Amino acid sequence: MTPEFILVTPQARPQVALIQLNRPKELNALNLQLMQEVAAALKALDQNPEVRVIVLAGSERAFAAGADIKQMAGRTAIDMLLIDQFSIWDQIRRTTKPLIAAVSGFALGGGCELAMTCDLIVASETAQFGQPEIRLGTMPGAGGTQRLTRAIGKARAMEMVLTGQSISAREAAQHGLVNRVVPVGQFLEEAFRLAHSIAQMSPVAARLAKESINRAFETHLDEGLHFERKNFYMTFASEDQKEGMAAFVEKRKPDFKGK
Ligand code: CAA
Repeated sequence: MTPEFILVTPQARPQVALIQLNRPKELNALNLQLMQEVAAALKALDQNPEVRVIVLAGSERAFAAGADIKQMAGRTAIDMLLIDQFSIWDQIRRTTKPLIAAVSGFALGGGCELAMTCDLIVASETAQFGQPEIRLGTMPGAGGTQRLTRAIGKARAMEMVLTGQSISAREAAQHGLVNRVVPVGQFLEEAFRLAHSIAQMSPVAARLAKESINRAFETHLDEGLHFERKNFYMTFASEDQKEGMAAFVEKRKPDFKGK
């Protein structure tokens, strides 16, 4: 089925796929169908052997202005519980390939949370990150209180979540929320550049390394180190590790096949 609210380009660049949120009139507000489309596209691209890295972008004006307020406004708590619209986000989190958010303009509420669900964030100078839900009489519900706190620390996360005030791309970079900030005309190209440099690496090693970094947020140090060590040993089962080390010894560029 052709998605209605996103555009998917499996080979936007060699080995790099692009998912573009495409609900411009609503500033890419994340309704349930849009999120289901994103999850389905990510699953397909995750299984596509031609794809090594995925870029998730919005438009220049808005990455996403949050969950769809109009869709949620009249719902009861029991509606919310039964629809459980944020459970689809767990599928996004299961993407094994590196996922880069290319953010310009508004990244608010669920938009900020979606960017933080990605592994890396490239921001344009106009990007604004915020969790304004408190102004609507509610709070972040798609990971904001957890991921923002881990990314920028308790004091800053408290201030953003309790006042609803946004931070600029520069502030987000200073606080470690985003990887880099570029002029607005370049944010997508910069995301592709970053994706390209990751796509040159062994996909097997990238997957295991991503899994290990994410484990750092879910466990204590001893268990995390054990997990990392097992994944490190696991890379030695790949042809890519043999190729990478042979190429170093032979003073040539490695050719990683993802096996
Ligand atoms: N849901 C539904 N529609 C939205 C939306 C949202 N989150 N954000 C913007 N829109 C719609 C507007 O209603 C408007 O539609 P109409 O033209 O039909 O009125 C259209 O997009 C353009 O928006 P504005 O006219 O408001 O544009 P602006 O430039 O004046 O303001 C903005 C932009 C500051 C982002 C403003 O739209 C805004 O404050 N949006 C809401 C941001 C927000 O509160 N997000 C959190 C949502 S709750 C959430 O995300 C929960 C969670 O944890 C997942």
